[in-house]
Amino acid sequence: MSEASAANDEVLPPTLAEALIADNFDQKGGVLTVGGIEVSDLAKRFGTPLFVYDSMLLRRNLRRLRDAVGGRVDIHYSVKANPNPAVISIFVAEGAGLEIASAAEYLRAIKAGGTPERIVFAGPGKAAEELDFVIERGIGEIHLETDIELEMVAAIGERLGQCVPVGLRVNPSSAAQGGAMRMGGKPAPFGFDEERLVEIIAEVRKRPTLAFKGIHLFAGTQILDADVLETQWRHAIELARRIQTEQGVLVETIDLGGGLGVPYFKGEQNLDLERLSQLAPPLFAEAASTLPSTRIILEPGRYLAASAGLYLTRVRAAKHSRDQIYAVIDGGMHHHLAASGNLGQVIKKDYPIVLAGRLDAPAEVTASVVGPLCTPLDTLGRKVRLPMPETGDLVAVLQSGAYGLSASPVGFLSHPMPAEVLIDEGEARLIRERGSFEQPITPLP
Ligand SMILES: Cc1ncc(COP(=O)(O)O)c(C=O)c1O
Repeated sequence: MSEASAANDEVLPPTLAEALIADNFDQKGGVLTVGGIEVSDLAKRFGTPLFVYDSMLLRRNLRRLRDAVGGRVDIHYSVKANPNPAVISIFVAEGAGLEIASAAEYLRAIKAGGTPERIVFAGPGKAAEELDFVIERGIGEIHLETDIELEMVAAIGERLGQCVPVGLRVNPSSAAQGGAMRMGGKPAPFGFDEERLVEIIAEVRKRPTLAFKGIHLFAGTQILDADVLETQWRHAIELARRIQTEQGVLVETIDLGGGLGVPYFKGEQNLDLERLSQLAPPLFAEAASTLPSTRIILEPGRYLAASAGLYLTRVRAAKHSRDQIYAVIDGGMHHHLAASGNLGQVIKKDYPIVLAGRLDAPAEVTASVVGPLCTPLDTLGRKVRLPMPETGDLVAVLQSGAYGLSASPVGFLSHPMPAEVLIDEGEARLIRERGSFEQPITPLP
């Protein structure tokens, strides 16, 4: 709850956690609810630690984004954000395509009901066996990222007697910069440098077993500024236009990548969809006038899944060490590396964290929320304003539907994997079994 100053009755603006609960969840008598179900009931039924996702929010995020960017865009869900087939299948049922980065993700996509021609495969170091596997079974496009990969795919096509649809992932030039954010012009392991594109397209066209489909540009992630996205997208469209006019090559697809952000930290705001809806549809309409047969793909992961999920844990011990309060919880960085700040963050900041069973209690202390691993890296919150935590309290980490479990070192210290639950139509469905001491790492569903 907001802390109101007793002295002057000043009401503080909602914290990020409060704003997110208002946007995505609800509460009953101070207990956080997901899709109408109290998290205390979920914890009782499924145990903790637990990832909980709300299918209604997954659908809502997709629909909101579609509405903002306009009907010309073909949205593909980036499976790496949350590869649970139950989550993937929500997006497939809504008509989304899929972006994968491994053959295992391909299998998961198919298991979730995805059709091969609605799947694109990107990644800087695809294995020959993976390429073989997906080409044999069918794939919408393979996005080539290196010279050797071009040769490998051409050879597989020859062996299988197939013409393989390929796109070229492009590491953009500095012209793709948007606002204060540097988006291009840097060395990168991903894709071909834009400066080499003419040469590489010519190489693709020389190979009878490769069919050039288009380009894929994706230079940044966690972008919260609609104008930056527009600059990046405009650059990709202009590049496609140049290829088509100067090289006389039909560009059938432009994949604009993902990268749409969500607020995680104090002071961050939701991506302004209103602004995006002013910028994107005219940009894509303009693209359609000069590139009438080009399909535009967006492949977000984080934007679609992050806000739809939370990581639910329980306090095992609350303790003081000198002047610091610690809530030691039953989950940690082995399930949620990103929330610990160890997934590439330069400055470690706290994800939105709440005591999910006592939302109506005043936040009167500043606590560190730490996990059970024997390392100070296992800290999910450094300075979290909370009611005084007690053993048994439920702690929820919000914005955890994307890059949670799938981006975490689950084998570290051999603690059991958490369960995952999907709330759908008012029902809670177990979509991954919890691990055990005997078998800590559960197979992916
Ligand atoms: C090729 C590709 N597409 C899409 C995504 C999804 O990005 P985001 O979750 O930021 O939208 C990624 C993320 O790394 C990626 O590498």
